[in-house]
Amino acid sequence: MSERMPVLYQKKPCYDIVFSQSFGELWAELSALECGDKRLCIVTDSKVDELYGEEILHLIGDKCQKAVKYVFPQGEENKTLDTVKGLYRFLIEEGFDRKDMLLALGGGVTGDITGYAAATYLRGIDYVQIPTTLLAQADSSIGGKTGVDFDGFKNMVGAFKMPRLVYMNSGALRTLDDRQYFAGFAEVMKHGLIRDALFYEWLIENMYEICERDLNVLQEMLVRSCNVKRLVVEKDPMEQGERALLNFGHTIGHAIEKTKNFKLYHGECVALGAVAAAYISWKKELLTMEEYYEVRDMFVPFYLPISVDDLDPQEVLRLTKSDKKMEAGSVKFILLKKIGKAVIDRTVTDEEILAAIEEINFSEEDAHA
Ligand code: GLY
Repeated sequence: MSERMPVLYQKKPCYDIVFSQSFGELWAELSALECGDKRLCIVTDSKVDELYGEEILHLIGDKCQKAVKYVFPQGEENKTLDTVKGLYRFLIEEGFDRKDMLLALGGGVTGDITGYAAATYLRGIDYVQIPTTLLAQADSSIGGKTGVDFDGFKNMVGAFKMPRLVYMNSGALRTLDDRQYFAGFAEVMKHGLIRDALFYEWLIENMYEICERDLNVLQEMLVRSCNVKRLVVEKDPMEQGERALLNFGHTIGHAIEKTKNFKLYHGECVALGAVAAAYISWKKELLTMEEYYEVRDMFVPFYLPISVDDLDPQEVLRLTKSDKKMEAGSVKFILLKKIGKAVIDRTVTDEEILAAIEEINFSEEDAHA
């Protein structure tokens, strides 16, 4: 049974999130957006294309005016203006005009690139998110953040552009490799930690089914996780305030991602950054010691790291600050006041950040201690 969650933008209904376990209802959803009269371009990467590209093309191919596919090479290193430029050229050659539509089929990189192209091609055309990774289903496909990396800076160029529909097939999560699946789970855990203690407890109670990827449990997990994200982005779509809470784990997480040359997955770095932020929360007497250790240890059964080899604390600190350079001089940290309640804190010192980095830094000496 599929479910539907309407999302408001500026207090008006804007798009629906459809939770399904297959692509079976995709065309019905697209035709409700009058796609029968449009040209549709599926934008996807080389890996997702192999899995679902032809299936989706076949589903929509003879029902709309024209259906085409733009495939770019898989990988975060392709989340660039060059990939967007290639897409613009393709759309011009295929005669796409302002009433036509893009379909982002894939993970976070695909959604961000497609959304950015949709925000800018002909000053804006419609797009639909069809996320196939857990990271994209739980987080990046909702809320209209789009963009590309620029000169080594993550998401440096972008736009807010709301999709017309988010269609989630939780069945697609079963084709992810374990590492990618569990990395995406870090964002789900984040939603429980920042805003919904009951959901956090539910995740722990359903640990076995989540690890086994039971489809009904996955669907409930996504509905509850997306509901947290929906509540936050509806209230603060342009990140003027509360939306920053969604960056829990990301301040130190992004710095680790960068210092490790993107060898660790984004979600793995978010788990590490969440442990570091929870540690600072304990040291600032927001969390108790027991709560800190619980938050830390609950990543382990979901195969997420809570420590990492050979961090250079000063380098991570420098990157943490450069990531936030544009926020009026103060590092905006997201801390936990308790499990299920995050707060924005601008008082975290360099010493506190360094101590938190040491906490997640695993060295040979620790191994022999
Ligand atoms: N991924 C954080 C946000 O959408 O604001």
